[in-house]
Amino acid sequence: MILVTGGAGYIGSHANKELNLAGYETVVLDNMSYGHEDFLKWGVFEEVDLGDLESIRKVFGKYEIEAVMHFAAFTYVGESVEDPQKYYLNNLRNTLNLFQVMNEFKVKKLVFSSTCATYGNPKKIPLTEDHPQEPINPYGQGKLMVEKILNDYSSAYGLRYVSLRYFNAAGADPECEVGERHDPETHLIPLILDAAMGKREDIKIFGTDYPTPDGTCIRDYIHVTDLADAHIKALKYLDAGGSSEVFNLGNGNGFSVREVIEESRKVTGKEIKATETKRRPGDPPVLVGSSQKARDILKWQPQYDDLTKIISTAWEWHKKDN
Ligand code: UFG
Repeated sequence: MILVTGGAGYIGSHANKELNLAGYETVVLDNMSYGHEDFLKWGVFEEVDLGDLESIRKVFGKYEIEAVMHFAAFTYVGESVEDPQKYYLNNLRNTLNLFQVMNEFKVKKLVFSSTCATYGNPKKIPLTEDHPQEPINPYGQGKLMVEKILNDYSSAYGLRYVSLRYFNAAGADPECEVGERHDPETHLIPLILDAAMGKREDIKIFGTDYPTPDGTCIRDYIHVTDLADAHIKALKYLDAGGSSEVFNLGNGNGFSVREVIEESRKVTGKEIKATETKRRPGDPPVLVGSSQKARDILKWQPQYDDLTKIISTAWEWHKKDN
């Protein structure tokens, strides 16, 4: 069985679905602090907090776990600056608990959710995996620390892992069985769609004086189902004996905040009022990644490779979930 931590969350639930569709049996582990009960549609569920070593051990004792996909983590960059302890305790300490139990039970395969936030401010675009990693917030720091620890554990304990550095996860399951639901919501696309539904008056554009063609930040949006698919490919790579690796996961195309709003107007047919405001601290002007390595080695090919498809699936889910 495959253990999916954070399987009741956004990316974890999509990966859990794809794993089950691909014929894998899964155990979802989630403490439900940010998870959603109605996302628990596949596999068996164990409500466990990764802070609790004994409970983790019980799960590993109960099921025959052959590999782990570790999604469980806090993901609000801004909050990580205000309350770093919250992030280090969960994203670092609790992750080490999981690795400790994996080691005790001799589970040697791991797919880890890392992030482009480990790079910090880009020196060169597109970002490749060998770009210097100098994170500018505790969220990125914690993820980078785990990457480094994995490197040591891999040499010492024979653990084989794939770290996947996601760019901006977006969109929703095209069948609308799961989707993006955060509380609080801080991400651009769901907030735009809230404005399209009249749940918010407008979408605020955070900064219009960036050194980009239209003055707003550029991001590499990658569909959550494509991310899920990359996890399965990473698992197969490990099953085939592949050595520990890191891969970027993005589309390689950048879209500005204004472009995302404009495309959302087209997809929804709604006006969507945009209000220009000041920059949000900590936002790099451009984050676009090269995923050539994942394409070459994992044979990963994103299917939702344009913004229209990404926003359309997000819109279908958003209408259903509201
Ligand atoms: N933005 C707005 N208005 C909003 C919300 C966002 O203009 O109301 C802008 C942001 O300033 C940014 C872009 O839209 O330029 C995307 O912002 P998101 O908050 O959707 O995503 P981020 O790029 O900040 O963060 C994402 C993930 C993090 C991850 C990070 C890596 O949410 O988990 O990418 O940089 F760490």
